[in-house]
Amino acid sequence: MDAKITLLPGDGIGPEVVDEARKVLTAVANQHNHTLHFTEKLMGGIAIDQTGNPLPEETLGACLENDAVLLGAVGGPKWSDPTAKVRPEQGLLKLRKSLGVFANIRPVKLFPALADASPLRPERVQDVDIVFVRELTGGIYFGQPQGRELVGGLRSGHDTMRYNEMEIKRVLRIAFELAQNRRGKVTSVDKANVLTSSRVWREVAHEVAAQYPDIAFEDVLVDAMAMYLVNRPGDFDVVVTGNMFGDILSDEASMISGSLGMLPSAALGDGGPGLYEPIHGSAPDIAGQGIANPLATILSAAMLLRSSLGLEDEAAQVETAVAQVLAAGHRTADLARPGEKAIGTTEMGDLVVAALG
Ligand code: IPM
Ligand code: MG
Repeated sequence: MDAKITLLPGDGIGPEVVDEARKVLTAVANQHNHTLHFTEKLMGGIAIDQTGNPLPEETLGACLENDAVLLGAVGGPKWSDPTAKVRPEQGLLKLRKSLGVFANIRPVKLFPALADASPLRPERVQDVDIVFVRELTGGIYFGQPQGRELVGGLRSGHDTMRYNEMEIKRVLRIAFELAQNRRGKVTSVDKANVLTSSRVWREVAHEVAAQYPDIAFEDVLVDAMAMYLVNRPGDFDVVVTGNMFGDILSDEASMISGSLGMLPSAALGDGGPGLYEPIHGSAPDIAGQGIANPLATILSAAMLLRSSLGLEDEAAQVETAVAQVLAAGHRTADLARPGEKAIGTTEMGDLVVAALG
Protein backbone atom coordinates (compact mmCIF):
# COMPACT_ATOMS: atom_id res chain seq x y z
CA MET A 1 0.00 0.00 0.00
CA ASP A 2 0.98 3.58 -0.68
CA ALA A 3 -0.33 6.12 1.80
CA LYS A 4 0.16 9.82 2.47
CA ILE A 5 0.41 11.07 6.02
CA THR A 6 0.59 14.68 7.16
CA LEU A 7 2.77 15.18 10.23
CA LEU A 8 2.10 18.19 12.44
CA PRO A 9 4.78 18.10 15.15
CA GLY A 10 3.61 21.39 16.67
CA ASP A 11 5.02 22.76 19.91
CA GLY A 12 6.83 21.69 23.07
CA ILE A 13 7.48 17.96 23.14
CA GLY A 14 5.40 17.54 19.94
CA PRO A 15 8.36 17.33 17.54
CA GLU A 16 10.21 14.84 19.77
CA VAL A 17 7.32 12.41 20.11
CA VAL A 18 6.24 12.70 16.46
CA ASP A 19 9.79 11.79 15.37
CA GLU A 20 9.53 8.54 17.29
CA ALA A 21 6.10 7.72 15.91
CA ARG A 22 7.35 8.35 12.39
CA LYS A 23 10.27 6.00 13.04
CA VAL A 24 7.91 3.26 14.18
CA LEU A 25 5.51 3.82 11.26
CA THR A 26 8.36 3.65 8.77
CA ALA A 27 9.74 0.47 10.32
CA VAL A 28 6.43 -1.37 10.37
CA ALA A 29 5.59 -0.19 6.84
CA ASN A 30 8.95 -1.40 5.51
CA GLN A 31 8.39 -4.82 7.01
CA HIS A 32 5.13 -5.17 5.11
CA ASN A 33 6.24 -3.47 1.89
CA HIS A 34 4.01 -0.45 2.33
CA THR A 35 5.23 2.98 1.36
CA LEU A 36 4.29 5.85 3.61
CA HIS A 37 4.84 9.36 2.26
CA PHE A 38 5.21 11.89 5.06
CA THR A 39 4.62 15.62 4.62
CA GLU A 40 5.55 17.75 7.59
CA LYS A 41 3.70 21.05 8.11
CA LEU A 42 3.59 23.94 10.53
CA MET A 43 0.87 24.05 13.13
CA GLY A 44 0.28 25.70 16.51
CA GLY A 45 2.55 28.22 18.21
CA ILE A 46 5.45 27.60 15.85
CA ALA A 47 3.10 28.36 12.94
CA ILE A 48 2.04 31.61 14.66
CA ASP A 49 5.72 32.58 15.00
CA GLN A 50 6.51 31.85 11.38
CA THR A 51 3.30 32.85 9.61
CA GLY A 52 1.05 34.62 12.10
CA ASN A 53 -1.54 31.85 11.70
CA PRO A 54 -1.78 28.73 13.92
CA LEU A 55 -3.18 26.72 10.99
CA PRO A 56 -1.73 28.09 7.74
CA GLU A 57 -3.73 27.40 4.55
CA GLU A 58 -0.90 25.24 3.27
CA THR A 59 -1.08 23.05 6.36
CA LEU A 60 -4.83 22.66 6.16
CA GLY A 61 -4.58 21.87 2.44
CA ALA A 62 -2.05 19.09 3.07
CA CYS A 63 -4.22 17.66 5.85
CA LEU A 64 -7.32 17.61 3.65
CA GLU A 65 -5.63 15.98 0.67
CA ASN A 66 -3.65 13.25 2.46
CA ASP A 67 -4.97 10.02 4.00
CA ALA A 68 -4.39 10.85 7.67
CA VAL A 69 -2.91 13.42 10.02
CA LEU A 70 -0.62 12.72 12.97
CA LEU A 71 -0.30 15.62 15.39
CA GLY A 72 2.12 16.05 18.30
CA ALA A 73 0.88 18.85 20.54
CA VAL A 74 0.19 22.57 20.39
CA GLY A 75 0.53 25.43 22.81
CA GLY A 76 2.90 26.73 25.45
CA PRO A 77 3.55 29.68 27.76
CA LYS A 78 4.95 31.77 24.92
CA TRP A 79 1.51 31.91 23.30
CA SER A 80 -0.78 31.72 26.31
CA ASP A 81 -1.21 35.38 27.19
CA PRO A 82 -4.96 35.50 27.91
CA THR A 83 -5.35 38.66 25.86
CA ALA A 84 -3.54 37.31 22.77
CA LYS A 85 -5.50 37.65 19.51
CA VAL A 86 -4.29 34.37 18.02
CA ARG A 87 -3.74 31.19 19.99
CA PRO A 88 -2.23 27.83 19.02
CA GLU A 89 -5.34 26.00 20.25
CA GLN A 90 -7.49 27.89 17.72
CA GLY A 91 -5.53 26.13 15.00
CA LEU A 92 -6.31 22.74 16.49
CA LEU A 93 -10.01 23.51 16.82
CA LYS A 94 -10.15 24.78 13.25
CA LEU A 95 -8.36 21.67 12.03
CA ARG A 96 -10.83 19.37 13.81
CA LYS A 97 -13.76 21.34 12.43
CA SER A 98 -12.35 21.50 8.89
CA LEU A 99 -11.69 17.76 8.82
CA GLY A 100 -15.19 17.16 10.22
CA VAL A 101 -13.80 14.74 12.79
CA PHE A 102 -16.72 14.82 15.20
CA ALA A 103 -15.93 11.64 17.14
CA ASN A 104 -12.81 11.51 19.25
CA ILE A 105 -12.00 7.95 20.28
CA ARG A 106 -9.87 7.81 23.42
CA PRO A 107 -9.18 4.30 24.67
CA VAL A 108 -8.12 3.93 28.30
CA LYS A 109 -6.53 0.62 29.00
CA LEU A 110 -3.92 -0.46 31.45
CA PHE A 111 -0.82 -2.20 30.15
CA PRO A 112 -0.40 -5.01 32.69
CA ALA A 113 3.24 -4.05 33.21
CA LEU A 114 2.12 -0.60 34.40
CA ALA A 115 -0.33 -1.73 37.10
CA ASP A 116 1.82 -0.18 39.77
CA ALA A 117 2.51 3.03 37.87
CA SER A 118 -1.17 3.92 38.39
CA PRO A 119 -1.98 6.05 41.43
CA LEU A 120 -5.02 3.79 41.92
CA ARG A 121 -4.65 0.41 43.60
CA PRO A 122 -3.74 -2.40 41.16
CA GLU A 123 -6.87 -4.45 41.93
CA ARG A 124 -9.01 -1.44 41.04
CA VAL A 125 -7.38 -0.80 37.67
CA GLN A 126 -6.40 -4.21 36.35
CA ASP A 127 -9.64 -4.81 34.46
CA VAL A 128 -10.08 -1.30 33.14
CA ASP A 129 -10.88 -1.19 29.44
CA ILE A 130 -12.80 1.95 28.56
CA VAL A 131 -13.27 3.72 25.26
CA PHE A 132 -14.21 7.36 25.54
CA VAL A 133 -16.12 8.81 22.62
CA ARG A 134 -15.79 12.56 22.98
CA GLU A 135 -17.84 14.81 20.72
CA LEU A 136 -15.18 16.97 19.10
CA THR A 137 -16.61 19.58 16.75
CA GLY A 138 -19.44 21.11 18.77
CA GLY A 139 -20.52 22.08 22.26
CA ILE A 140 -19.02 24.88 24.27
CA TYR A 141 -15.77 24.75 22.29
CA PHE A 142 -17.54 26.10 19.23
CA GLY A 143 -20.91 27.52 20.32
CA GLN A 144 -21.74 31.08 19.32
CA PRO A 145 -21.94 33.68 20.64
CA GLN A 146 -18.69 33.83 22.52
CA GLY A 147 -16.61 36.80 23.42
CA ARG A 148 -15.53 39.29 26.01
CA GLU A 149 -16.96 42.69 26.79
CA LEU A 150 -17.45 45.16 29.59
CA VAL A 151 -20.75 44.58 31.36
CA GLY A 152 -21.65 47.34 33.79
CA GLY A 153 -18.00 48.35 33.70
CA LEU A 154 -16.82 44.84 34.62
CA ARG A 155 -14.66 42.67 32.36
CA SER A 156 -16.86 39.73 31.37
CA GLY A 157 -16.54 36.74 29.10
CA HIS A 158 -19.10 34.31 27.74
CA ASP A 159 -19.25 31.02 25.84
CA THR A 160 -22.23 29.09 24.54
CA MET A 161 -22.89 25.42 25.11
CA ARG A 162 -25.10 24.29 22.25
CA TYR A 163 -25.84 20.90 20.72
CA ASN A 164 -28.37 20.00 18.07
CA GLU A 165 -29.88 16.57 17.63
CA MET A 166 -27.88 15.75 14.50
CA GLU A 167 -24.59 16.34 16.34
CA ILE A 168 -25.73 14.23 19.29
CA LYS A 169 -27.17 11.41 17.21
CA ARG A 170 -24.09 10.83 15.04
CA VAL A 171 -21.66 10.64 17.93
CA LEU A 172 -24.01 8.42 19.96
CA ARG A 173 -24.24 6.05 17.00
CA ILE A 174 -20.45 5.73 16.89
CA ALA A 175 -20.53 4.82 20.59
CA PHE A 176 -23.19 2.13 20.10
CA GLU A 177 -21.41 0.67 17.07
CA LEU A 178 -18.19 0.43 19.08
CA ALA A 179 -20.01 -1.21 22.00
CA GLN A 180 -21.36 -3.90 19.69
CA ASN A 181 -17.84 -5.18 19.11
CA ARG A 182 -16.89 -4.83 22.76
CA ARG A 183 -18.65 -5.62 26.04
CA GLY A 184 -22.01 -4.21 24.96
CA LYS A 185 -22.42 -1.27 27.31
CA VAL A 186 -22.75 2.48 26.65
CA THR A 187 -22.63 5.18 29.32
CA SER A 188 -23.72 8.65 28.23
CA VAL A 189 -22.41 11.45 30.42
CA ASP A 190 -24.14 14.80 30.74
CA LYS A 191 -25.26 17.44 33.24
CA ALA A 192 -28.98 17.16 32.54
CA ASN A 193 -29.95 18.19 36.07
CA VAL A 194 -28.70 21.71 35.31
CA LEU A 195 -28.02 22.30 31.61
CA THR A 196 -30.65 22.57 28.88
CA SER A 197 -28.17 21.41 26.25
CA SER A 198 -27.64 18.27 28.34
CA ARG A 199 -31.37 17.62 28.51
CA VAL A 200 -31.51 17.63 24.72
CA TRP A 201 -28.44 15.40 24.70
CA ARG A 202 -30.10 12.93 27.07
CA GLU A 203 -33.39 12.87 25.15
CA VAL A 204 -31.62 12.12 21.88
CA ALA A 205 -29.31 9.59 23.55
CA HIS A 206 -32.35 7.62 24.70
CA GLU A 207 -33.80 7.64 21.19
CA VAL A 208 -30.56 6.27 19.75
CA ALA A 209 -30.32 3.72 22.58
CA ALA A 210 -33.77 2.41 21.65
CA GLN A 211 -32.34 1.43 18.25
CA TYR A 212 -29.74 -0.79 19.92
CA PRO A 213 -31.77 -3.02 22.24
CA ASP A 214 -28.87 -5.46 22.62
CA ILE A 215 -26.66 -2.80 24.22
CA ALA A 216 -26.93 -1.95 27.92
CA PHE A 217 -27.37 1.80 28.27
CA GLU A 218 -27.17 4.24 31.17
CA ASP A 219 -26.83 8.00 31.68
CA VAL A 220 -24.53 9.33 34.36
CA LEU A 221 -24.13 12.93 35.49
CA VAL A 222 -20.66 14.28 34.86
CA ASP A 223 -19.83 15.02 38.49
CA ALA A 224 -20.77 11.48 39.51
CA MET A 225 -18.76 10.13 36.57
CA ALA A 226 -15.66 11.93 37.83
CA MET A 227 -16.08 9.97 41.05
CA TYR A 228 -16.87 6.59 39.43
CA LEU A 229 -13.74 6.78 37.29
CA VAL A 230 -11.76 6.66 40.49
CA ASN A 231 -13.78 4.21 42.58
CA ARG A 232 -15.11 1.76 39.98
CA PRO A 233 -13.42 2.35 36.62
CA GLY A 234 -13.72 -1.32 35.72
CA ASP A 235 -17.51 -0.97 35.31
CA PHE A 236 -17.38 1.07 32.11
CA ASP A 237 -17.12 0.00 28.50
CA VAL A 238 -17.95 2.81 26.05
CA VAL A 239 -18.41 6.28 27.55
CA VAL A 240 -19.86 8.95 25.25
CA THR A 241 -20.02 12.61 26.13
CA GLY A 242 -19.79 16.18 24.90
CA ASN A 243 -16.66 18.09 23.99
CA MET A 244 -15.74 19.71 27.29
CA PHE A 245 -16.82 16.89 29.61
CA GLY A 246 -14.86 14.49 27.40
CA ASP A 247 -11.78 16.69 27.55
CA ILE A 248 -11.84 16.72 31.33
CA LEU A 249 -12.84 13.11 32.00
CA SER A 250 -10.30 11.68 29.57
CA ASP A 251 -7.44 13.44 31.34
CA GLU A 252 -8.76 12.09 34.61
CA ALA A 253 -9.07 8.59 33.18
CA SER A 254 -5.55 8.72 31.80
CA MET A 255 -4.25 8.45 35.33
CA ILE A 256 -5.65 4.92 35.47
CA SER A 257 -3.09 3.95 32.85
CA GLY A 258 -0.26 5.37 34.93
CA SER A 259 0.52 8.45 32.86
CA LEU A 260 -1.00 11.01 30.57
CA GLY A 261 1.93 10.04 28.35
CA MET A 262 0.31 6.70 27.51
CA LEU A 263 -3.03 7.63 25.96
CA PRO A 264 -3.59 7.86 22.22
CA SER A 265 -6.59 9.18 20.35
CA ALA A 266 -8.23 9.06 16.97
CA ALA A 267 -10.61 11.69 15.67
CA LEU A 268 -12.89 10.39 12.96
CA GLY A 269 -15.65 11.81 10.82
CA ASP A 270 -17.60 10.66 7.81
CA GLY A 271 -14.85 9.01 5.84
CA GLY A 272 -12.37 11.88 5.34
CA PRO A 273 -8.83 11.83 6.70
CA GLY A 274 -8.62 10.94 10.40
CA LEU A 275 -6.70 13.03 12.92
CA TYR A 276 -4.51 11.17 15.39
CA GLU A 277 -2.96 12.76 18.44
CA PRO A 278 -1.78 11.84 21.91
CA ILE A 279 -4.20 13.23 24.49
CA HIS A 280 -1.39 14.92 26.39
CA GLY A 281 -0.33 18.49 25.76
CA SER A 282 2.94 20.11 24.73
CA ALA A 283 4.55 19.76 28.20
CA PRO A 284 6.72 22.88 27.81
CA ASP A 285 8.43 22.15 31.13
CA ILE A 286 10.22 19.13 29.69
CA ALA A 287 10.39 20.11 25.99
CA GLY A 288 13.73 19.74 24.24
CA GLN A 289 15.22 17.56 26.96
CA GLY A 290 14.66 14.24 25.22
CA ILE A 291 12.80 12.77 28.18
CA ALA A 292 9.17 12.86 27.02
CA ASN A 293 7.23 9.61 26.73
CA PRO A 294 6.57 8.97 23.01
CA LEU A 295 4.25 6.01 23.59
CA ALA A 296 0.95 7.93 23.38
CA THR A 297 1.98 9.20 19.95
CA ILE A 298 3.26 5.79 18.87
CA LEU A 299 -0.05 4.26 19.99
CA SER A 300 -1.89 7.03 18.10
CA ALA A 301 0.09 5.99 15.02
CA ALA A 302 -1.16 2.43 15.59
CA MET A 303 -4.73 3.75 15.61
CA LEU A 304 -3.93 5.55 12.35
CA LEU A 305 -2.76 2.31 10.76
CA ARG A 306 -5.96 0.59 11.86
CA SER A 307 -8.64 3.22 11.29
CA SER A 308 -7.37 5.27 8.35
CA LEU A 309 -5.29 2.71 6.45
CA GLY A 310 -7.16 -0.47 7.37
CA LEU A 311 -3.89 -2.15 8.45
CA GLU A 312 -5.16 -4.11 11.45
CA ASP A 313 -2.21 -6.53 11.68
CA GLU A 314 0.34 -3.75 11.50
CA ALA A 315 -1.54 -1.75 14.15
CA ALA A 316 -1.67 -4.75 16.47
CA GLN A 317 2.03 -5.36 15.85
CA VAL A 318 2.87 -1.85 17.07
CA GLU A 319 0.65 -2.23 20.15
CA THR A 320 2.22 -5.59 20.97
CA ALA A 321 5.69 -4.09 20.59
CA VAL A 322 4.79 -1.34 23.07
CA ALA A 323 3.43 -3.90 25.55
CA GLN A 324 6.63 -5.95 25.21
CA VAL A 325 8.91 -2.99 25.83
CA LEU A 326 6.95 -2.11 28.96
CA ALA A 327 6.87 -5.73 30.11
CA ALA A 328 10.67 -5.79 29.76
CA GLY A 329 10.75 -3.01 32.36
CA HIS A 330 11.65 0.01 30.21
CA ARG A 331 10.21 3.27 31.55
CA THR A 332 10.37 6.92 30.57
CA ALA A 333 10.58 9.42 33.44
CA ASP A 334 6.80 9.83 33.73
CA LEU A 335 6.41 6.08 34.35
CA ALA A 336 9.52 5.31 36.38
CA ARG A 337 9.07 4.86 40.11
CA PRO A 338 11.50 6.43 42.56
CA GLY A 339 14.86 4.72 42.15
CA GLU A 340 13.90 3.15 38.81
CA LYS A 341 16.07 3.99 35.80
CA ALA A 342 14.36 6.23 33.25
CA ILE A 343 15.16 6.07 29.55
CA GLY A 344 14.83 8.89 27.03
CA THR A 345 12.41 9.58 24.19
CA THR A 346 14.63 8.28 21.38
CA GLU A 347 15.66 5.21 23.31
CA MET A 348 12.00 4.33 23.90
CA GLY A 349 11.24 4.75 20.18
CA ASP A 350 14.24 2.56 19.27
CA LEU A 351 13.12 -0.15 21.67
CA VAL A 352 9.64 -0.19 20.13
CA VAL A 353 11.15 -0.47 16.65
CA ALA A 354 13.37 -3.34 17.83
CA ALA A 355 10.38 -5.09 19.40
CA LEU A 356 8.53 -5.04 16.07
CA GLY A 357 10.74 -8.01 15.22
C1 IPM B 1 -7.14 17.79 24.12
C2 IPM B 1 -6.54 19.12 24.44
C3 IPM B 1 -7.16 20.18 23.54
C4 IPM B 1 -8.66 20.21 23.81
C5 IPM B 1 -6.56 21.59 23.65
C6 IPM B 1 -5.08 21.59 23.39
C7 IPM B 1 -7.26 22.56 22.74
O1 IPM B 1 -6.69 19.41 25.78
O2 IPM B 1 -7.07 17.36 22.95
O3 IPM B 1 -7.70 17.15 25.02
O4 IPM B 1 -9.09 20.85 24.78
O5 IPM B 1 -9.40 19.59 23.06
MG1 MG C 1 -7.46 17.78 26.93
